[in-house]
Amino acid sequence: MLFEQIATGGCQSYLVGCSSTRAAVLIDPELSRVREYRGHINQLGLDLRYVIDTHTHADHFSGGRELGKALDAPVVMHRLSPAPHAALRLDDGDMLIVGELRLQALHTPGHTRDSMCLVMSDRVFTGDTLLIGGTGRSDLPTGDPHELYESLFEKLLTLPPETLVFPAHDYKGRSHSTIGAEIADNPRLQKRDRADFVAMMQSLDLSAPTHLTEALRTNMTGAKPVSQLLAEAAAKLPFMSLAELALRVGGNSRDLVILDVREKDAFEAGHIPGAIHLPRGQLELRVNSELPDPTAKILTCCEFGKISTLAAATLRELGYLRATALEGGLKGWRDAGHPLTV
Ligand SMILES: [Fe+2]
Repeated sequence: MLFEQIATGGCQSYLVGCSSTRAAVLIDPELSRVREYRGHINQLGLDLRYVIDTHTHADHFSGGRELGKALDAPVVMHRLSPAPHAALRLDDGDMLIVGELRLQALHTPGHTRDSMCLVMSDRVFTGDTLLIGGTGRSDLPTGDPHELYESLFEKLLTLPPETLVFPAHDYKGRSHSTIGAEIADNPRLQKRDRADFVAMMQSLDLSAPTHLTEALRTNMTGAKPVSQLLAEAAAKLPFMSLAELALRVGGNSRDLVILDVREKDAFEAGHIPGAIHLPRGQLELRVNSELPDPTAKILTCCEFGKISTLAAATLRELGYLRATALEGGLKGWRDAGHPLTV
């Protein structure tokens, strides 16, 4: 078996391949590492058959959809997953064949309703159902401490004690544990009575994970996080530096349209000399009257350089093929001591 554990902060992803056929699966990929996973897959000469999410993650962005699309592998989740991009949905007991490897789904609701563990001959990928020295929380959407109790004590912990445990998270740099070691030492598993366990889970009082709403929004629907939208817009554009713009403004360059896409108040409080005003929110509606020449060199600017990046990408889509955005925005312009007019 080819086996790579790839950590992103506290998130653990697993690339598991069959050494004779090179067929492979990737479990719980993280969106920010998609290029790196592809690098690993290429370097090892693997043929990715499935991308598996053990559950709908609430704390980070899944790379499943991106990776599945790029490598033509179906995204596999439990059948109760709300994600429309989950192309292969598993029931409890279903088995995936990956070359000579076999991965069997064990439905383990509790952390989320769609949580599943993946059981192999000597190991189990436990998602957020069982962590090293802990369990997943049961207080987020679709979580249920009663179900978590049953999933742990009536299912997962009945695996042979020597079974290796590979969780979806570890914040202390540990790679794995065993079922036996967790039964013996995991503090949460010492509450073996259902009522005691549920009471303990309900009294944890954990703070909400950062990005909870955005992570659920994107992981449940396959939509993009804002950071990805910005990165994709930026990848389609060249930028102009503050120094280059200062030269052009000073030289009274006539072939540059400086388009300030901030709101009216901000524009009127001070803008780059010669800039015209067209707020981002009205861009598509007023573009034909405000920017009659599609061959013009257009520079978008905003306060921090993010909205202007989206605006320039939109302009390119609309056919203004020389649209570019100001790196650093008005803030950078001001901080560098360049002139403003009102
Ligand atoms: Fe989770």
